[in-house]
Amino acid sequence: MQGLKADLLRGCWYVAVPAAEVKRGKMVAKTLLGEPVLIARGDDGRAFALRDICPHRGIPLHYGKVEGTSVRCGYHGWRFDTSGTCAEIPSLREGQEVDLSRIRCGAYPTVEKHGLIWIYVSLSGEPPSEGPMAEVDVLPDVPADEAPAALVMLPFDCSIDHAAFGLMDPTHAAYVHTSWWFKKDPTRLRPKEKSFEPDAFGWRMVRHEIPPQNLVYKLFGTGVTTEIAYRLPGYRIERVTGSRANVVGLTAMTPVDEEHTEVYQIFWTSLGWLTWARPIVRRLMRTFLDQDRRVVVQQREGLVHGPRLMMINDADTQARWWARVKSEFQEAQRAGRPFVNPLKPQTRRWRS
Ligand code: FES
Ligand SMILES: [Fe+2]
Repeated sequence: MQGLKADLLRGCWYVAVPAAEVKRGKMVAKTLLGEPVLIARGDDGRAFALRDICPHRGIPLHYGKVEGTSVRCGYHGWRFDTSGTCAEIPSLREGQEVDLSRIRCGAYPTVEKHGLIWIYVSLSGEPPSEGPMAEVDVLPDVPADEAPAALVMLPFDCSIDHAAFGLMDPTHAAYVHTSWWFKKDPTRLRPKEKSFEPDAFGWRMVRHEIPPQNLVYKLFGTGVTTEIAYRLPGYRIERVTGSRANVVGLTAMTPVDEEHTEVYQIFWTSLGWLTWARPIVRRLMRTFLDQDRRVVVQQREGLVHGPRLMMINDADTQARWWARVKSEFQEAQRAGRPFVNPLKPQTRRWRS
């Protein structure tokens, strides 16, 4: 968990790609959890995801094309439907019987929600309804058809665990996020005390007021409060409420493989002017996320030597919880029993 590689959780929904990036009749090929995944949109507008390898001779299906609601391989033209089952072999002649239903490239359960395409990566081929995370229920307070107000993604050259540790670590901000609009003076760290509660597949920093010196949050008016949830397999959900507007922010981490991670920063908001300010907001978001990205690239230089790492009380407590929740998830999966959240409500203190 602490080295270059992370154990990747299966039996979970992951953000595969922003919905707007997969146009009707087109496809996007990616590596997710070490697997070749093809996300396509048929001419009926529905998104689907296939394993991006033709079972005939192994060429990636993305060298072919979308046809109707299926994908045709670019080598010999075999066609696969949205369930990953072969629907046509053009070379067959009358009388040549092949049971097409037994030829499968494989498919990933796919849901389009909140302007994102989510795919389910199973543990052993089970449908989501049989796994611990049956549905995409990460953002119950965002309408299913509401597209993000702003979205950026940066590839992080680190495991999902180190990406997650960075996200939940309150004490790096003063040293890493040093833009003028977010500047924290490392010589003036403030004492913090926050309450935490167990929450679905993770925990939640209980709603609290944001100190007025924090410039970014002033956009939302006065009396601004926030609540931050962290949950498996890799989500940070922040809900900010102010006199002027509300915002839901999602940081979604999707493993490319054991040591590379896509990190999405996404906002949905009631702030109307954000539409015309989107280019500026995206730049700020990108700058902020890039500060996190750069530090894990630097960290990698050390991690290749396999050092023993430390987790201290109290600032690293959330990283410890991450490890505990994750191993409970895996143990429950191995034992075939329901996940039982191992965390208890508690208050933590640090300076940041
Ligand atoms: S390799 Fe795909 S059809 Fe032959
Ligand atoms: Fe950060």
